[in-house]
Amino acid sequence: MKLDSAVVSLLGLDPNQTSVSSAGGGGMSSASTCKITTKTPDGGDMQYFMKTGKGREAEIMFEGEDASLNAIHNAVPTLCPKSFGHGKFADTTGKSFLVTDYLDLSGRGAPSVGMSMAEKLAKLHTTPAPTPKGYDKPQFGFAVPTCCGDTPQDNTFSSSWADFYANSRLRFILNQSKKSNGSDKQLESLVEQTCTQVIPRLIGDKHLNSGKGVTPVVVHGDLWSGNASAGRLPGMTEPEDIVFDSSACYAHSEYELGIMKMFGGFGASFLSEYHKLVPKTEPVDEYPDRVALYELYHHLNHHALFGGGYRSGAMSIMRNLISKYGDSDKSEL
Ligand SMILES: Nc1ncnc2c1ncn2[C@@H]1O[C@H](COP(=O)(O)OP(=O)(O)O)[C@@H](O)[C@H]1O
Ligand SMILES: [Mg+2]
Repeated sequence: MKLDSAVVSLLGLDPNQTSVSSAGGGGMSSASTCKITTKTPDGGDMQYFMKTGKGREAEIMFEGEDASLNAIHNAVPTLCPKSFGHGKFADTTGKSFLVTDYLDLSGRGAPSVGMSMAEKLAKLHTTPAPTPKGYDKPQFGFAVPTCCGDTPQDNTFSSSWADFYANSRLRFILNQSKKSNGSDKQLESLVEQTCTQVIPRLIGDKHLNSGKGVTPVVVHGDLWSGNASAGRLPGMTEPEDIVFDSSACYAHSEYELGIMKMFGGFGASFLSEYHKLVPKTEPVDEYPDRVALYELYHHLNHHALFGGGYRSGAMSIMRNLISKYGDSDKSEL
């Protein structure tokens, strides 16, 4: 396989000393993966990981993933690969790429040294978000759209976490779902009730932490067990707990826990270690319902992406939350 000249120039490689091979390990998105190996001036080998994809979708996906990986890498360098950049191929039209550190993966649950996943995630979730250009304080959202699966998400900055979650996550994904699955009045009505009744009551800015609200922090955004592993980043002699394939944004830290709960793999001992470092948000007794509210987004996203089966999980979470936190008229549940 010949390496595209746009990648050669981005990385400053010598094409005669560089080869490209398949990276194997297919993920959940439509991107293809490969490994770039090049000789360093001291005679050693250096490797990069490259994703490639077609069309505008891939361009958006890689721009988001580049910014996501670097937002995490800058806060906790040992947690995820850094991105070297993204762009369009020069020698083939309509194709884009993303190049990152190569991870030597040893698999989920394999022995690891250094900080644990809980410690690294806690460090990430206690590093305050930077203030975006043009704003006077940190915001919820992200500078670019990011993809969770193949869905490009709206990350428009907001000073209100509740507004961001209602508009840029739940209402946004319901619209995507309408495009892929057609109109669904029952689902639409429950999402709207969740946004207007449950969200203000459960994660309203004046409700959390006794009126102090929550501080935006970087979250991975797609942290299911398939995007976490033990592995070696460049410079690591032993495997550590690492993550990859992120769709980051600046969010309430508990937002991360929704997808982690949905797909499992982060059990009670993980959570107890993590919450010693990142205490649950107040009111603590509503924590399970907040995590369910955050899990809801991923059921709706999976419904938008894959249809059918994921609708019932979303409906049951919404019915439960509306019956607890909604207004008194529950006739539509
Ligand atoms: N930086 C990397 N180095 C080596 N292998 C990687 C790296 N990132 C991901 N992979 C492997 O490639 C697979 C697909 O990558 P991933 O980023 O998860 O993409 P997808 O969006 O397709 O799920 C992963 O499951 C993992 O096995
Ligand atoms: Mg993945």
